[in-house]
Amino acid sequence: MGRFLTLCIVFSTYGIARGDLGLNLTIPGLASGVSGAIGQGMINLIKANGTIKVEAEMDSSGALVPLINVVNDVTSPLNKLLGATLAGSSSKKSNSQELFAALSTHVINTKTAIDNALQATDDLKLTVRPTQYDEIRSNVSLIQSNLPPLQESFTVLSTTVSVVQNSKEPVTTDNVADYFTASILNDLINPLLNITRGVDGLAKVVTNVVKDKTASMNAIASINGTVNTGLRSLATTVASFNKSVNDAGSFVSTNANGLYGNIEQVYTPITERSQNFNGGDVTQVTNYLTEVKDNVDKFTSNMSDTYNHLRDNVTILLNSQVDRVSKIILDTATYITNTGYSFNSEDGERCATKYTGQLTQNPLLTNRLSGCLQPEVRGFNAINQLYRILLDQTRTLGSSVASTVLGRQCTQGTTDCVATVSS
Ligand SMILES: *[C@@H]1O[C@H](CO)[C@@H](O)[C@H](O)[C@H]1NC(C)=O
Ligand SMILES: *[C@@H]1O[C@H](CO)[C@@H](O)[C@H](O)[C@H]1NC(C)=O
Ligand SMILES: *[C@@H]1O[C@H](CO)[C@@H](O)[C@H](O)[C@H]1NC(C)=O
Ligand SMILES: *[C@@H]1O[C@H](CO)[C@@H](O)[C@H](O)[C@H]1NC(C)=O
Ligand SMILES: *[C@@H]1O[C@H](CO)[C@@H](O)[C@H](O)[C@H]1NC(C)=O
Ligand SMILES: *[C@@H]1O[C@H](CO)[C@@H](O)[C@H](O)[C@H]1NC(C)=O
Ligand SMILES: *[C@@H]1O[C@H](CO)[C@@H](O)[C@H](O)[C@H]1NC(C)=O
Ligand SMILES: *[C@@H]1O[C@H](CO)[C@@H](O)[C@H](O)[C@H]1NC(C)=O
Repeated sequence: MGRFLTLCIVFSTYGIARGDLGLNLTIPGLASGVSGAIGQGMINLIKANGTIKVEAEMDSSGALVPLINVVNDVTSPLNKLLGATLAGSSSKKSNSQELFAALSTHVINTKTAIDNALQATDDLKLTVRPTQYDEIRSNVSLIQSNLPPLQESFTVLSTTVSVVQNSKEPVTTDNVADYFTASILNDLINPLLNITRGVDGLAKVVTNVVKDKTASMNAIASINGTVNTGLRSLATTVASFNKSVNDAGSFVSTNANGLYGNIEQVYTPITERSQNFNGGDVTQVTNYLTEVKDNVDKFTSNMSDTYNHLRDNVTILLNSQVDRVSKIILDTATYITNTGYSFNSEDGERCATKYTGQLTQNPLLTNRLSGCLQPEVRGFNAINQLYRILLDQTRTLGSSVASTVLGRQCTQGTTDCVATVSS
């Protein structure tokens, strides 16, 4: 029996017979302790990360991108380290030296990744609630500070395995606990427990941050929807303003032409029966009519230019105002919402809720923006009125000029004239 065990250890030394940690022995409490300490491993954190249902870049608060960086750095290669530790704790097939060398490499790589994760938390300082920031940092730090004791524990275990493998005394299930003492096992299990606590703690915070950011992104999308609706109703207002300017322009030109038609009609009895007047010479009348026509044309053209300028200027002004105002509203809303969801205090949240409610009220936004149109429309009406007055004055002037000319022509003693003038 003794001979057999000695043989066994000799075989072990050559790496042929293996058990837990590559030894051909079950180390009591090791596999169960490690598996209990690792628990769910990275599953909770990966699930928490999975609650991000949007493109991280779409988050205008800027929190989701660094949050994912932190999660990715914490997840890998820590997942490999935990997996290899779990497998090694009950592996009867591995070569012990190779097993500890692999574990050591995993710890070194994990340390680098966790250092990066801690650095990536800087970008979260102003974008998540201060308590969330503190919790993220303390949990990543907890993982970080437990990697050196884990590495140290692997060194101790590796040495212990060598001692067992090279022991002149037979090491059996009965005395293996003298080598792998409770203290040695706890030095492995405690860092693992702390690391898992850090991973699970981080998972909880990640879930909360994602919940906050999703709520704030939904609020911003809803405000944007309201602004877009407001813009559509404003586009209608602008189009109707544009149309009324266009209509007023054609009103002016139609009326000016109508005015010319009226004046021309007054002289029809003269121009159509020129032989009855001034010995057939009605040059003065036709010259006058040509002059009136020129002036009407010029006036119409001037009015048309004026109306076009008015329309284009106002339309451009309105459109740029609308763009500006809606951008301001959206930016303000985004700021309020993101700040509200980054503030710790209940006040911050109430503020966000209050403004979100106000800004998503359709009539409020539309009325406020329509308000900008009122001064322009009133200005436009005033100009339109002025043009109507000018037009009336020109009409009167035209009539009086016509009367004078007619009067002059009528001195020739023609009854037709009088009849025409009074008609
Ligand atoms: C390993 O240990 C088991 C008993 O636990 C034994 O049956 C087996 O022969 C051993 N293998 C070697 C190679 O020593
Ligand atoms: C976290 O989620 C992002 C997508 O939102 C994904 O790109 C990334 O790979 C995930 N990370 C982990 C560790 O699951
Ligand atoms: C790790 O865990 C042990 C026991 O659970 C605890 O005493 C110790 O302070 C922890 N280490 C750190 C760095 O939190
Ligand atoms: C880790 O996160 C949890 C919340 O999930 C928090 O309660 C805890 O204070 C954080 N820090 C540590 C070191 O556990
Ligand atoms: C607001 O909506 C418009 C139109 O749908 C879109 O192009 C824009 O990206 C949105 N902006 C934000 C901040 O959601
Ligand atoms: C305003 O009217 C002019 C002329 O009809 C047209 O070319 C222009 O597209 C209109 N603009 C708007 C904003 O409706
Ligand atoms: C039209 O405008 C020009 C200058 O732009 C001016 O000289 C002319 O008197 C105007 N004509 C009428 C009929 O108002
Ligand atoms: C705006 O009106 C002015 C005259 O008041 C004119 O010179 C200018 O071209 C107009 N702008 C546009 C874009 O029509």
